[in-house]
Order: sequence, then C-alpha cells, then structure tokens
Amino acid sequence: MTAIYTPEPFRIKVAEPIQLISREAREAALKAAGYNLFSMKAEDIYIDLLTDSGTGAMSPAQWAALMNGDESYAGARSFQRLKAAVEDIFGFKYFAPTHQGRAAENILAACLVKSNQYVPSNMHFDTTDANIRARGGRPVNLVIDEASDPANPHPFKGNMDVAKLKAFIAGHGREKIPFGMMTVTNNAGGGQPVSMENLKATAEIYRVNGIPFFIDAARYAENCYFIQQREAGYREKSIKEIAREMFSLADGMTMSAKKDAIVNIGGLLCVNDEALFQNIENELILREGFPTYGGLAGRDLDAMAVGLYEGLDEAYLAYRIGQTAYLTSKLNDLDIPTIQPAGGHGVYINAGAIFPHIPQGEFPAQALCVELYREGAVRGVEIGSVMFAHIDPEDEQWRYPALELLRLAIPRRTYTQSHLDYVADCFAAIKSRAESVRGYKFTYAPELLRHFTARFEPL
Ligand code: F0G
Repeated sequence: MTAIYTPEPFRIKVAEPIQLISREAREAALKAAGYNLFSMKAEDIYIDLLTDSGTGAMSPAQWAALMNGDESYAGARSFQRLKAAVEDIFGFKYFAPTHQGRAAENILAACLVKSNQYVPSNMHFDTTDANIRARGGRPVNLVIDEASDPANPHPFKGNMDVAKLKAFIAGHGREKIPFGMMTVTNNAGGGQPVSMENLKATAEIYRVNGIPFFIDAARYAENCYFIQQREAGYREKSIKEIAREMFSLADGMTMSAKKDAIVNIGGLLCVNDEALFQNIENELILREGFPTYGGLAGRDLDAMAVGLYEGLDEAYLAYRIGQTAYLTSKLNDLDIPTIQPAGGHGVYINAGAIFPHIPQGEFPAQALCVELYREGAVRGVEIGSVMFAHIDPEDEQWRYPALELLRLAIPRRTYTQSHLDYVADCFAAIKSRAESVRGYKFTYAPELLRHFTARFEPL
C-alpha cells in the first residue's frame, strides 16, 4: 500500500531550529541519561515524539490572543471569553479552568471519590487512574476485548464493553460507584475512538443506575472526527455538532487542553450539578486559584478560547489524523507491526514483535526506544514492562502487560512529511539489525511511576 499524505493546511511562519547531534554524541547522551529518554536534554533530541501534550504549535490568532490576556485576579475578560467558547462547544452549565488535565481529575476525585469506591471507564489514562487511587478509590477498565488484539481493525476500538459495565454495576452496587467515565479517544489503548452509539449506550446504563457520567475529553475533537468519518449518519454533521451531541450525553467532563485545544498549558472541568460545582469551586480555590483563572494566567485562557475552535476545524483534523495514518502505513510497509487501525494522536508500535528474542523482563519496548534514539535522535515513549510490570502482592510473582509498545505521539502542527519519512527510515535501519539488539536491566528503579526516573544498563 502507498502511504498518502494530506498536505498541511498551513504554512510555517516561525522556524524553531532543531539539530541532529552526531552518532558519538548520541551514544554519550544515552549513557549519561542511564538509557532513559525522559532524562535527556531536549536539545539533544532531533524529532521529539514523546508526547502530543502541550507540544503543538499555536496559530497567529492564538499568539495575538495572548496579548489580549486580562490578568485581573477576579472576573477577567479572558475568563468571559473562555466561558463563551466552553459553553458554545461543550454546553455544560458550569465550568472551571485548571492548570492541566490532571488538576481537573484531582479536584473531581477529591469531591466525589471515597475509600473503596469504584470508577469504571473504557480505560483510564494513568493520571486519572492515579488520582482515583490517591483518594482510596479503584479505577476499573472495561474496554471491549478487541482493544487488546493489536491486529484487530475494529473502527471503534475504544468502545466500552456495555455487557461488562452492566454486570460490574449489578455485581458491586451503584452506591459503590460515585461516577463513571469514558476516555475519548482512548489514549491508553492506542488512541482509538469511541462511537456515538457506544457513548449513548454507556450514558444510558449510567443514567438508569443514577451514576453521574464524566467524559475525559482530552482528544474529543479527534474522536468526533472519527465518528464523522466512520459512523453511519454523521457524514453530514459538523465536528461541533457531533461534539454537542457527545457532551449532551454526559453530566460533566475533565479535559487536558494541552491536546485538542492546542495550547501549551491548561485544562477544564465542566459539570451540570450546581451543588457539585460549589464544592469544585472550593477545592479549586484551595489548590489551583480563584475560579476565574484556575491556576493559569489570563493570557492562557485567551489562547485556549481560540485554540478550542481551531481544534474543531475539519481541514486541520483531516491533516492531523492523516499524519498518524501516514506514518502508520509507512511503518507497516516496512513490516513494522503497529496497533491497527491507526489511532488519532500517535502510532503504537509492537516492539515485542520486532524483538521476539528479548524477554519481557529485559524490556523490548525500552530497547526499541533506545535504538530509535541511537539511530536518529528520535524520542518516543515506552508503554510496556518498564511502565506496567509489577510484583503481585498475592503470590509475589511478576505480572507483565499484554503488549510491549513504543508510542510515537505526534505534536500538533509541528512536524512535516519529511520528518515523518525520516522517522520511518530510522525504523528500516533498526529492523535490518533487529537480531543484534539486546535488552536492558534496571540499575535504579523507584517503586511508583518508575519509568520517569529509572536508570538502565544494556545487557
Ligand atoms: N487524560 C488523557 C486521556 C491524557 O492523555 C492525559 C495526558 C491526561 C488526561 C492528563 O492531562 O497531562 O494535562 O495533566 N496525557 C499526556 C500524554 C501526558 O502524553 O499522553 P495533563
């Protein structure tokens, strides 16, 4: 199959230099970082696909909006402008700005989650998972089984397994479930979308059980684009119309604006319930800031107000989703196995299949991450045993994740086709010497969230 590239619907106005350091310098940088790409200097990275969060390029309209920022402590005009955009797009009665997505999750969990309560979702992102656990709660992932089969081309692989959800609620009782969630798109499961039909069915199950329903909306616009392209009855609807329909099903949402609002920092927490919002405001004042700025500068609110609309633009979304599909298809042409179909914001590479000779305990996806840097100074992120393997307290045995993945997250409006071609070329080179690549062992690993600070040694 020939990879098709959708040309950028913009031209470049500000050029930020990046440099490819020499092979020897890369080797030295790897060693100094303990073979952990999180510990590298960003200036030593050529193409940075670590995350699509806060790493996108803002538009001239957003930069201009920054200058209009009103830094009044209370009641700033920037807040009014953001409020108008949030009400127009999402339609909830109340909202609070937060400094990023996890701050919204923290406040929501502080207000609603009690010890030993469950919060079901298709799949929680790791900060959502951790914020629920931090309040003594238990996050539960009930995504459809197709999600764990990388080759399965299901068009809505982020869907909730509604039968499992019903059984879970029946088995544990609604009083043990303070709220339910849905992550769109499902980042932890390959950036895969959720269908409107599935959102409706899930919302209905929560509704009949009296369980408030929250959407993790980090990449909602990308999800709406997939609905428009793939789901019957949505071809003629605008992305905004689809978004309005999606959020009309929910009682509230959390959002990392660093994704689909195309800003470097910011988040949102929206609800319809007045009493809950009063509690949210109190928590917000305690932890983030006054409710009309929520831990951000006035100018950040203005950039977000503009970015929210730019994230809904169909020409932008066609190019954006096209980039991910392009890189996926180029890699597949090289026989590099990835999660199918291409997700919204990133390419998820099956490292376990590229290095079948490296056992999970020797971190094949970490090895691929290191090789990619060694080959071309490209940075991705390991989503495998470094991140998830743990000792089960029940039997003291190691438990490994089902897949050893490397995620290449594509920042918004940042890299061009030739950058993506370069990344694919790096994979071709790695594949040709795959058999000689060895695994890694820890020389240091903290107990929690170890992937951020661990150090390794090659075996
Ligand atoms: N929800 C989802 C689905 C996310 O992907 C993220 C962040 C968050 C919540 C938390 O938002 O970072 O603004 O506090 N994902 C980033 C990533 C970090 O690389 O996938 P945040």
